[in-house]
Amino acid sequence: MSRLEFRSDTMTLPTEAMREAMRNAEVGDDVCEEDPTVNRLQELGARKLGKEAALFVPSGTFANQCAVGVHTTPGDEVIAAEFTHLVEHETGATAALAGAQLRAFVPRGSTYPTVDDIAPRLRTERDVHFPSTGLIVLENALSDGSVMPVDEMRRIRELAHSYHIPVHLDGARIFNAALGLGVPVTEIAAQVDTISVCLSKGLGAPVGSLLVGTSAFIDLARTRRKMMGGGMRQVGVLAAPGIIALEEGPALLEEDHRRARELGRRLAELPGMKVHSDWLMTNMVYCDVEGPERNNEGLVDFLNQNDIPTYPPIPQGIRFVTSQRVSDRDVADLVDAVKQYLNS
Ligand SMILES: Cc1ncc(COP(=O)(O)O)c(C=O)c1O
Repeated sequence: MSRLEFRSDTMTLPTEAMREAMRNAEVGDDVCEEDPTVNRLQELGARKLGKEAALFVPSGTFANQCAVGVHTTPGDEVIAAEFTHLVEHETGATAALAGAQLRAFVPRGSTYPTVDDIAPRLRTERDVHFPSTGLIVLENALSDGSVMPVDEMRRIRELAHSYHIPVHLDGARIFNAALGLGVPVTEIAAQVDTISVCLSKGLGAPVGSLLVGTSAFIDLARTRRKMMGGGMRQVGVLAAPGIIALEEGPALLEEDHRRARELGRRLAELPGMKVHSDWLMTNMVYCDVEGPERNNEGLVDFLNQNDIPTYPPIPQGIRFVTSQRVSDRDVADLVDAVKQYLNS
């Protein structure tokens, strides 16, 4: 295992306390809703998000797709920005599983969608040719590490609800978003009908997500989860670390954000590096090597050869993510490695 791990906050490892909680977890058959540890996790998740109920599911993708499946009927249209996980990274599941079509768009004025992006795409007139708008999906925090303002979410919710269209939030990193925005997580959650929350990213659990919403919605989602093969039995062993992640993880994100800012600041000081500081609002640092002799591909190759695993550059640049796997010394070591490449 590499010592430096900046690829993603999905790389966090369960702590000793989590392993101990897994060993000692009281379990039952969760398909029959008889696993006390899962029930405790779900109640805690609903309370933290300020919603009525929650459902433990295997992954963030599962949570999003379960929500899409419950909110829509086949042939419906789902409105989402192009760079969201739902559009780009869920292997076409919206079409394959829910039978819904995506209406994806590039936000015009900002990294996040605004009400002006969404309004003209709603199917507000009944017409024999049109699909119905079944759902709007937002993401907060965004995959570029930035956050979407609560006021914009509110405007979108008000518009959507005026046409009885539900809004789902991919809140895989909703606790990062709350910290980045400086608002309680419940204020973000209040702007949408349902939310998926990943326990296994910055919060540190090894597995799992919660889907959160009204009790009526979660009842339907439980049936949908079974249909999708996500009915798990004595799964309290996985819910137990999720409880620790929810209780203790959000406070730990402050350090991740501080280290990301520090990394961004120190990389920006290096001649030949450009840091996208306008997106640096959570735990992700995007940067570019300014050519012509050095470039993003060269830096990524250099880091990978030097035992610092790094994902290939994407159009937004090279991404470094801070998490519980990253210490202050790791930040300093990464900056030194980048410096070495630039001077090579
Ligand atoms: C914004 C966002 N949503 C959803 C997911 C999916 O989570 P999972 O990998 O648990 O399916 C991810 C994973 O990285 C993500 O970044």
